[in-house]
Amino acid sequence: MLMQFYLISLLCFLRSALSQIPNAIQNNVVDDFSYAGYKSALSYPNYLNSDWKLINVQNFGAVPNDGIDDTAAIQAAINSAPSDAIIMIPAGNYTITTQLLVENKQNFSIVGDSSGKTIFYSSFNGEDAKDPRFDNYQYGLAGHLLYFRSDNWLDDSATLTVQAKKGDFVLTVNNVSKFQPGQAISIRISDLNQNVSPSIWAYFHNVTQNIWMGQTQKLMNENMYYRIKSVNATKKQITLYEPLRTNLYLSWQPVITRVMYYCQNVGVSFLTFQFSNLTRPGHIFYKGYNGLGYRGCQDFWGKSLTFNNTDHGIMLYTSYGGLFKDINFIGRGGHHGIDVNFCSSVVFHGLYFNTVLQHIHDATVSDLTNYAIISNGRSNFPFGIDGHRKIPYQNLYTDFTSITWDASSGNWEDGPHFARDNVFWGLGDSQVIVPSSLWPENPDIESFYCYQNKFITKQFTQEYKTLAAKCKNVYNEEVPNLSIPNLYLYQLQQRCFPCFRQLSLW
Ligand SMILES: *[C@@H]1O[C@H](CO)[C@@H](O)[C@H](O)[C@H]1NC(C)=O
Ligand SMILES: *[C@@H]1O[C@H](CO)[C@@H](O)[C@H](O)[C@H]1NC(C)=O
Ligand SMILES: *[C@@H]1O[C@H](CO)[C@@H](O)[C@H](O)[C@H]1NC(C)=O
Ligand SMILES: *[C@@H]1O[C@H](CO)[C@@H](O)[C@H](O)[C@H]1NC(C)=O
Ligand SMILES: *[C@@H]1O[C@H](CO)[C@@H](O)[C@H](O)[C@H]1NC(C)=O
Ligand SMILES: *[C@@H]1O[C@H](CO)[C@@H](O)[C@H](O)[C@H]1NC(C)=O
Ligand SMILES: *[C@@H]1O[C@H](CO)[C@@H](O)[C@H](O)[C@H]1NC(C)=O
Ligand SMILES: *[C@@H]1O[C@H](CO)[C@@H](O)[C@H](O)[C@H]1NC(C)=O
Repeated sequence: MLMQFYLISLLCFLRSALSQIPNAIQNNVVDDFSYAGYKSALSYPNYLNSDWKLINVQNFGAVPNDGIDDTAAIQAAINSAPSDAIIMIPAGNYTITTQLLVENKQNFSIVGDSSGKTIFYSSFNGEDAKDPRFDNYQYGLAGHLLYFRSDNWLDDSATLTVQAKKGDFVLTVNNVSKFQPGQAISIRISDLNQNVSPSIWAYFHNVTQNIWMGQTQKLMNENMYYRIKSVNATKKQITLYEPLRTNLYLSWQPVITRVMYYCQNVGVSFLTFQFSNLTRPGHIFYKGYNGLGYRGCQDFWGKSLTFNNTDHGIMLYTSYGGLFKDINFIGRGGHHGIDVNFCSSVVFHGLYFNTVLQHIHDATVSDLTNYAIISNGRSNFPFGIDGHRKIPYQNLYTDFTSITWDASSGNWEDGPHFARDNVFWGLGDSQVIVPSSLWPENPDIESFYCYQNKFITKQFTQEYKTLAAKCKNVYNEEVPNLSIPNLYLYQLQQRCFPCFRQLSLW
């Protein structure tokens, strides 16, 4: 049956495929953001590969604007293509009643009408789903209406054979044949004797006591990803696009793991996620009207998306290399606008909030997330950034009209909330980050300024100088012209300005 659908739809495409492609994907699905580090600054791939199948959900029985459930039809369209496909959702209002799952797909895109008139209207929420997989929907970690994920990944490793130091581009490994240019790797420390004590993070940041990480996280992977530029089999060496951010001593037993999530090159464009306008419940009693989630994905995107009445808009978890552009939040306002956990190298450009209530956190960057860029934040309220916990580090925040900060779930066992080595660049007129008015009890604003974060602006105000003067580990730089032609290189340089400088002492 499914096969018949598939054949029929294939025939339909042959007739009208090109006319059905929204104009905006004729070129690229997302803009070229290589200058900001996306895909390690490689030139941007054209996702409209001529080989990609074009699949129209209406050929699978989805009918917009009739109030009848379209979930099965859209899921069937998604399932019909293992990879290399664009699922087209023509303009209209589609009724969705449970989660749409895009699992283990590669080169896979869901594209609405570029007019912005494709809507997923849903009554689905994490609580009603009564599905153990949707645990934690109240916090937005599960229960998304559209969910991209890997159910597995290739965990292929090699060990380092020659000590490397911060700034190096070359790693010598025992098993070089596992690696190819373009692949991503992560570096983990496997030394169970804890020569890196108490954790590699603590080592980086010159913290001698394990006051910030739970015991179980002592040897936590730092979530640092790099991308391979070239491989020399003779020399058993791989060369990276970006310099190492720490020394790697052999006694630490560093393991170089090729990261190969089965969710790769996936994304969604021109789609509105709409829920009904229910009264917002008390904090963390959300039912989980959650929009879009990515877990275990690499090289993924979202473009021109609107979240109307969501509890949580976009959630990222253990993912690498993401790009989100032109993301809108309307309706009542929920808990998290975006929530980024255990991720590296993700770019958000254009987060626009125009809601009835202020989100509890507009942008949460949490749990060891590093090398994220959050830029062009606009809100009808002060834009709220949440450092949350577990040491997000080396992130860049830039181009906000106003900015507030909170350290929610903030207990110090769970890690400092802005950690260190973040760069704040262009924070609005006052240049001062103030505690969110939603968290007036938040005591940490001063310590936040002291965590070796770097503030860059044209000229600092007196208000800022007074705050910054309270701590000795704050770094300021006045840059007369903030229009830097190569944002990527510049911010990399800046974000590693304070970082690791203490290594020579160890
Ligand atoms: C979409 O349809 C639902 C009913 O199925 C309706 O409540 C909702 O307002 C519609 N949205 C728009 C934008 O028309
Ligand atoms: C995805 O696209 C890339 C680049 O074109 C290609 O190398 C890869 O084989 C594709 N993956 C699949 C599963 O088709
Ligand atoms: C090298 O890779 C091969 C093939 O995957 C594997 O069998 C072998 O154990 C690896 N060697 C080391 C030292 O990791
Ligand atoms: C690898 O290194 C060897 C030895 O230095 C060199 O002769 C060879 O050209 C290199 N190969 C590549 C592909 O760069
Ligand atoms: C947002 O959702 C509500 C409730 O479904 C709907 O009434 C409203 O029209 C939507 N807003 C927009 C701009 O589509
Ligand atoms: C729905 O949205 C409007 C503003 O768009 C708001 O005034 C109203 O209180 C909301 N809630 C309900 C339950 O209608
Ligand atoms: C700032 O730098 C940019 C990029 O180099 C340049 O185009 C622009 O003219 C400069 N503006 C000023 C006021 O110097
Ligand atoms: C590292 O920490 C020690 C002990 O707290 C301190 O004395 C030293 O100055 C720190 N080094 C750097 C470079 O921050």
